[in-house]
Amino acid sequence: MIPVREESADVPEFPMARAAGCPFDPPPGLRSRQEAGPLAKVRLWDGSTPWLVTRYAEQRTLLADPRVSADIMRPGYPSSAPIRPDGSGVSFILMDDPEHARLRRMVTAPFTVKRVAAMRPAVQKIVDDLIDEMLAGPNPVDLVEAFALPVPSLVICELLGVPYSDHDFFQENSKTIIKRDASPEDRTAAMGRLAGYLDELVGAKLANPGDDLLSRLTERVAAGELARAEAARIGVLLLIAGHETTANMIALGTLALLEHPAQLALLRETDDPKLVAGAVEELLRYLHITHNGRRRVALEDIEIGGQVIRAGEGLIMANDIGNRDPEAFPDPDRLDLTRDARHHVAFGFGVHQCLGQPLARMELQVVYSTLYRRVPTLRLAEDLAQIPFKHDGAVYGVYRLPVTW
Ligand code: HEM
Repeated sequence: MIPVREESADVPEFPMARAAGCPFDPPPGLRSRQEAGPLAKVRLWDGSTPWLVTRYAEQRTLLADPRVSADIMRPGYPSSAPIRPDGSGVSFILMDDPEHARLRRMVTAPFTVKRVAAMRPAVQKIVDDLIDEMLAGPNPVDLVEAFALPVPSLVICELLGVPYSDHDFFQENSKTIIKRDASPEDRTAAMGRLAGYLDELVGAKLANPGDDLLSRLTERVAAGELARAEAARIGVLLLIAGHETTANMIALGTLALLEHPAQLALLRETDDPKLVAGAVEELLRYLHITHNGRRRVALEDIEIGGQVIRAGEGLIMANDIGNRDPEAFPDPDRLDLTRDARHHVAFGFGVHQCLGQPLARMELQVVYSTLYRRVPTLRLAEDLAQIPFKHDGAVYGVYRLPVTW
């Protein structure tokens, strides 16, 4: 029996539901809470009542505050699902500095803007080849399976040194891990399978290194700077983060553009890389796919937004509604590819800000500047009402996107 605190009787549940027929807008409950003030209490699956931070300014302030911890093992952390008591499987996204910084530093090199720019021709070829295959295959087709998932999967596999031929295995398991309503047993089992798989790969690369990120990590293992299990956990994090997020941005971004034809026309008709880059930022802002919020716990009492957050209280920065804050983005519910949206929080903020953002940006720029120009008649093959949305996922998107041309 979950103990319900006195205050929780009139505290709304989180996550909240989106309005029917508005697949691109955050839940109306988040909007009303944002209008009422920057902080409000919400109730989670376990009966706990962390703070929901709704406004852009307070979200950025708190995400940059060293008195705020991302350590999932701390009491009060507002977890989205039960946590394994031994903390096994936890990677650096859920740790604090200095441990977080130590591990993150080991994998930053391939994600610098310069290294990512050098990968652009290879990503362009992947995108062109997949479009060729799609156009030569059956019509209609599911864009998720034929294009949105393979693009980032192929890229992250190449970068990490994971064989793409194993994609059915790792995509299936990562789907279970990020499914909000997966049972703890199923999630733990999926995590175990992926960790085992990465551990074997690390072992193979110890004996036979290649020119890839996992091999660089195994050098650290060999030098005694990193445990083999840590290397495998970093591999799992990068493999999941590297394809789930970008794949959803490709499919959901395409759907949003098909539903906003004047905006799609801007992209289809331009060869200006600046407009394309701006369009990527605006779609990241508008769609904000990591809709479960940035989860944190206060280490000390913090006064902010007219409230005192007590040490040990949980915090959820609802960045999806932060990206729709009228104080930061005028007319925030309008998709406008020409606005300056670069200050969005779709990649988070502070020390945990997305490591892969230069790569994600480049992949999305290549996709958005290629797909609609090469397939100008691209359109939905079913009604919008029939498209299944990932309301139950840690990453928002569509399960399938039937398209025709
Ligand atoms: C459109 C695509 C993407 C979106 C929207 C996205 C979003 C995010 C967000 C919001 C965070 C912050 C989490 C937090 O503060 O709790 C994050 C962290 C992270 N992302 Fe991404 N991401 C994307 C693509 C990628 C890619 C391609 C990779 C590459 C492997 C990646 C790797 C990571 C890693 C390793 C972290 C943890 C960083 C840390 O804790 O220091 N992401 N991402």
